[in-house]
Amino acid sequence: MADCAHLLLRGTLPTRKQRRDFQREVRGHRLVHEHLIRFFQGFNHDAHPMAILVSVVGALSAFYNDDHDYRDPAKRDLAGMRCVGKMATLAAYSYKTAHGQPIVYPRDDLNLAQNFMYMMFALPTRPYDLDPVACRCLEVILMLHADHEQNASTSTVRIAGSSQANPFACVAAGVASLWGPAHGGANEAVLAMLEEIGTVDRIPKCVARAKSKTDPFRLMGFGHRVYKQMDPRARLMRDMCHKLLDHLKIKDPLLDLAMELEKVALSDDYFISRKLYPNVDFYSGICFRALGIPREMFTVIFAVGRSVGWIAQWIEMAGEEVSRISRPRQMYEGAPERPFVPLSERR
Ligand code: ACO
Repeated sequence: MADCAHLLLRGTLPTRKQRRDFQREVRGHRLVHEHLIRFFQGFNHDAHPMAILVSVVGALSAFYNDDHDYRDPAKRDLAGMRCVGKMATLAAYSYKTAHGQPIVYPRDDLNLAQNFMYMMFALPTRPYDLDPVACRCLEVILMLHADHEQNASTSTVRIAGSSQANPFACVAAGVASLWGPAHGGANEAVLAMLEEIGTVDRIPKCVARAKSKTDPFRLMGFGHRVYKQMDPRARLMRDMCHKLLDHLKIKDPLLDLAMELEKVALSDDYFISRKLYPNVDFYSGICFRALGIPREMFTVIFAVGRSVGWIAQWIEMAGEEVSRISRPRQMYEGAPERPFVPLSERR
């Protein structure tokens, strides 16, 4: 992930020395202010981790609000590295909060994926052994989600950033936009859908629902605004899913169900004619499940990976010579001009 983050944030794959320096730098930003940790204690135990994440990432702006002159490349870079360094910590603390467990501080000797697994699953009462294959799987997932041009959440970060708002507040806006089931929340929705289908014989009913003009239900993890063929990330995710499950000796009936659903949908005229193929979210949930990550954390992990892209895009935008505020126009289609009626005369 360090190479991928360096490529996105600095524009090139790093040399060995650059990689070491970059890792040292990011790791140096992993801790969050102790006062920020108190924010977590204010949430209900059943709060959704995305609700927690959107709040605490935004709260970072209260801790790093010292200098708004982001025309200075060094200040932009520092803000970006702080955000990238702290995202996984905040995400893991969101998990711990939602599970009522004590938080676990980050470790400098671990890479991003290892550190994230450690912060989520380690407990003061028992050691936690990191599985290299599981950690590598999480690392690949983070890389596959790192950036994807102008998707809804990235555009949101850019729109917020165009007013020269604090970058942490901009990233919080991105987290909010990612949350919805039409975007990053789809990975959570895919698993819910597969669990609801339950058995292969119920697939036709689900596909019929997705095709119905009267039912708003959609096949989650299918379709993409840009990809009109199989999302290349979905293919990688499916292969990795098989490898991970084999390694962990897990037989997950949901994987068989997902593959059968893919087969049925891809041989159906409705999906063929509309060029609807599995997207990155279709298989990621099954990987997360095998890693022992609960459903409500799926989109949080997406946010950790995507934060690198959000920051790279924000840095690029904040560094532009001429910056203009984003200001989409709106076509008014409502009633024509109406006379003003005083409140006392309104019925
Ligand atoms: N299931 C059933 N029908 C679908 C689906 C689906 N998943 N996706 C699109 N369609 C249909 C629409 O009903 C529409 O049919 P029509 O032409 O008969 O009216 C046609 O395909 C085109 O759909 P649009 O909504 O115009 O496609 P759009 O590009 O706006 O939507 C989106 C893309 C939001 C991803 C959509 O495919 C969807 O809702 N998919 C399910 C949610 C999902 O998996 N989201 C994750 C996207 S990837 C990501 O964000 C990381």
